[in-house]
Amino acid sequence: MRSRLAKLAARLVPAYEYDAETFFAADGAPDEVAARRRLGFDALARVYRERFAASAAFTDAAAQGISDLQFTARYRVPFPFSRHVREHLRSGSFVRASDGAALVDLDGNRLYDLTGSYGVNLFGYAFYRECIAWGAAEVAALGPVLGQLHPVVADNVQRLRAISGLDEVSFHMSGTEAVMQAVRLARYHTRRRYLARFDGAYHGWWEDVQPGVGNPLPPRETCTLKDMDAASLRVLEKRDDIACVLVNPAQSLHPNAAAFVDSSLVDSARHAHCDRAAYAAWLGRLRDVCTRRGIVLIFDEVFVGFRLARGGAQEYFGVRADMVTYGKSLGGGLPVGVVCGRRDLMKRFRDMAPADICFARGTFNSHPYVMGAMNAFLRRIEAPGIGALYASLDETWDSRARALNARLEAEGLPMRVANLSTIWTLCYTRPSRYNWMLQFYLRAEGLALPWIGTGRLIFTLNFPEDDYRAVAERIVAAARAMERDGWWWPAPGLTNGKIRRAILREMLVHRLAAFSPY
Ligand SMILES: Cc1ncc(COP(=O)(O)O)c(C=O)c1O
Repeated sequence: MRSRLAKLAARLVPAYEYDAETFFAADGAPDEVAARRRLGFDALARVYRERFAASAAFTDAAAQGISDLQFTARYRVPFPFSRHVREHLRSGSFVRASDGAALVDLDGNRLYDLTGSYGVNLFGYAFYRECIAWGAAEVAALGPVLGQLHPVVADNVQRLRAISGLDEVSFHMSGTEAVMQAVRLARYHTRRRYLARFDGAYHGWWEDVQPGVGNPLPPRETCTLKDMDAASLRVLEKRDDIACVLVNPAQSLHPNAAAFVDSSLVDSARHAHCDRAAYAAWLGRLRDVCTRRGIVLIFDEVFVGFRLARGGAQEYFGVRADMVTYGKSLGGGLPVGVVCGRRDLMKRFRDMAPADICFARGTFNSHPYVMGAMNAFLRRIEAPGIGALYASLDETWDSRARALNARLEAEGLPMRVANLSTIWTLCYTRPSRYNWMLQFYLRAEGLALPWIGTGRLIFTLNFPEDDYRAVAERIVAAARAMERDGWWWPAPGLTNGKIRRAILREMLVHRLAAFSPY
């Protein structure tokens, strides 16, 4: 129901853009503050023109033929602000090299990489270069032969069985495909139609797991439940048509909210906090219901597997799933999706009904080069140094986050970080319509963010201390510049609720104007 309403609401949002005046005073800021913002914006635009000229020009030309770049360029900030930003703060989406913790753009700028390559990068790019080279050498004699397996596959399977604690493994080309396969198998074995997922959780981009905005089709056999809510357990107790429950443990940082995207950062209501014990207890209760009701519990660890612990979310939260999907880093730098599952659930045929099969093939599944790089990855994470890294992860990253927050607080800056280990999000403590501007100050400070902006910063597990200190300095410097340039001007009496109501009124006016014949 909520998915349908969200889609309807999305269709009704009218297109409009702020003119050069409103851009700087959308919150009703007085002239003095608007002038300060304008000066700050112009200075930043000069920095961008000088520093990112080649990268921006190359991106502009290439974007004509790359629809993805057109999309990401448009959705970096709330849409009424978007055009002005696109015109003046262009920095580009192409990079030439990776070097330690940094990326090098087409202008030769070194930017600390906080994109994490969508979460793939756990141990630094040099690690993955080595995995790819080692893996390629390992399978070179076979080359890109498909349909028959290189022996390295068997070793990968043994290692994955040990890590996941599950019996069997299947290989796919992406995380999305791995989730598709796990859900299909759950439906096949339970003979039930519905998959249950939790509000806000991402599981790839295929139809059934994306029932809301972004998917032109209405939801079908998908049931979206409230995360960490007893009512959801009652639904699972009662219904007889639910085949599986999909859990993305990254949601423990922001239950019931999608990953934060700066294009929807219209106020300061973004809230994130991981309560590890509470989430573990919740997963335990979910586990019990699923066991009792014969529902397949699937942990989608495409993002957090190998990131939270070597044994992933199962180890981190101390709860075992019936099936686990992995992807991203497990390919050793190459594309991959993996399903690990209980033997009875992984089986694709029925002994007593030979024509009733569960089909799952794929041309490039178990590609020798991917399997080689994966083998390097799985061997290397057994090294004692990596074990020590995993053992101290939370201590390292929680204390880094705490220290940075103490500093931001001491300086009176209205911004904080919230983290689930190495996965960070920036939150804002003072109601404001301009928090999204921070991403541009961060880039000017030499920090590369994902296209969604300040909603998700992803560090490597072994991000060096010196580099981390430099990143923290730059985050503080960017926040100071935001404050100095007036974007966080404390409008008297402003609340997040008032901001939202003002935006709603604005939309209504534009919606009605669109219907007017004059
Ligand atoms: C939890 C989760 N599941 C599935 C996917 C989809 O993986 P892929 O992009 O490899 O298809 C992602 C990607 O970010 C993810 O985070």
